[in-house]
Amino acid sequence: MLNKKIETICNRQIDREGYSSNLYLAMASWAETKGFPGIAEWLYRQSDEERMHMLKFIKYVNERGGKAIIPAMKKPQPDYPGIEEMFKEVLKHEEFITSSINEIVELTLAEKDYSTYSFLQWFVNEQIEEESSVRAVLDKLHLVGKNNMYIFDRDIVSLRASESPGE
Ligand code: FEO
Repeated sequence: MLNKKIETICNRQIDREGYSSNLYLAMASWAETKGFPGIAEWLYRQSDEERMHMLKFIKYVNERGGKAIIPAMKKPQPDYPGIEEMFKEVLKHEEFITSSINEIVELTLAEKDYSTYSFLQWFVNEQIEEESSVRAVLDKLHLVGKNNMYIFDRDIVSLRASESPGE
């Protein structure tokens, strides 16, 4: 049975993963309307992954005798100043999610909840993958420069949005 503190912080993460999914959906839609189908596809896939992360938490909380709370949809900003600025924001958001996961890990240790600690290891590894895949996108963006966005948009499709260990 999950203790109340762990249940509450897992519900906070359900909200954050759900928002991540929404945020990348907004970015995907924006990129699509700007004529970048490859970037849009990368972001649509990323949005799906975030929904899957949210579901993992929902199922875990319910399985352990807690009650998962389904969050309201927060509206992400609909427009972005440019592709590079948008991906910088993706990286900043993933760094925030990593610190959020780390806070749950710390709480599980303080509360001696080793089952949740073990459940979280998948997310710890996933965050390493996600941050590194966004850094790879930003590196590639720097290489191609602003004049070759067509090539970047074509190539990003082959850069996996993120490898999900165990999926
Ligand atoms: Fe589910 Fe990108 O963190």
